[in-house]
Amino acid sequence: MSKKIAVYPGTFDPFTFGHLDVVRRASKLFEKIFISVAENNNKNSLFSVNERSNIIKEVISNEEKLNNIEIKTFNGLLVDHVNEVGAVAVLRGLRALSDFEYEFQMAGINARLSNEFETIFLMASENQQFVASRLVKEIHSLGGDVSSFVPRIVLSHLESKKK
Ligand code: PNS
Repeated sequence: MSKKIAVYPGTFDPFTFGHLDVVRRASKLFEKIFISVAENNNKNSLFSVNERSNIIKEVISNEEKLNNIEIKTFNGLLVDHVNEVGAVAVLRGLRALSDFEYEFQMAGINARLSNEFETIFLMASENQQFVASRLVKEIHSLGGDVSSFVPRIVLSHLESKKK
């Protein structure tokens, strides 16, 4: 049987407890998960793609049970990346209603572009429903406490960006 690989793609600017929650839960469902950090997004990222991927590496290496996770970066279309690594699924976390339309569209478009994989959604855990990278950056830049939204490693990288 071929290895069941999933790609968990995103901007991860920065990686939050919401992302970590999805990775932890999905790691029990798949043999291998690639956390794939998108390089060419239209968003103005606080961290470069290499910084984002290194931060995630640091976070994951501190997690005891996550030994089937690998961090990658990709440039170009997600479908090409997914097919290149031979994944059977794309994973996305879904928070309340606000995410649905965007995710619905993205899953539909990707399904048109390739029928080699499925998009699978994990509903955000109850305590992660409101965590969003965009808000973490805003709150932190305005001096608010984001320690309940991001791992300690991420917090220290946010602090050093501020200096
Ligand atoms: O964390 P995000 O910003 O919601 O992740 C979005 C991401 C990176 C998964 C999406 O923008 C993406 O897949 N970008 C790669 C380019 C691509 O394939 N675009 C068409 C998607 S329908």
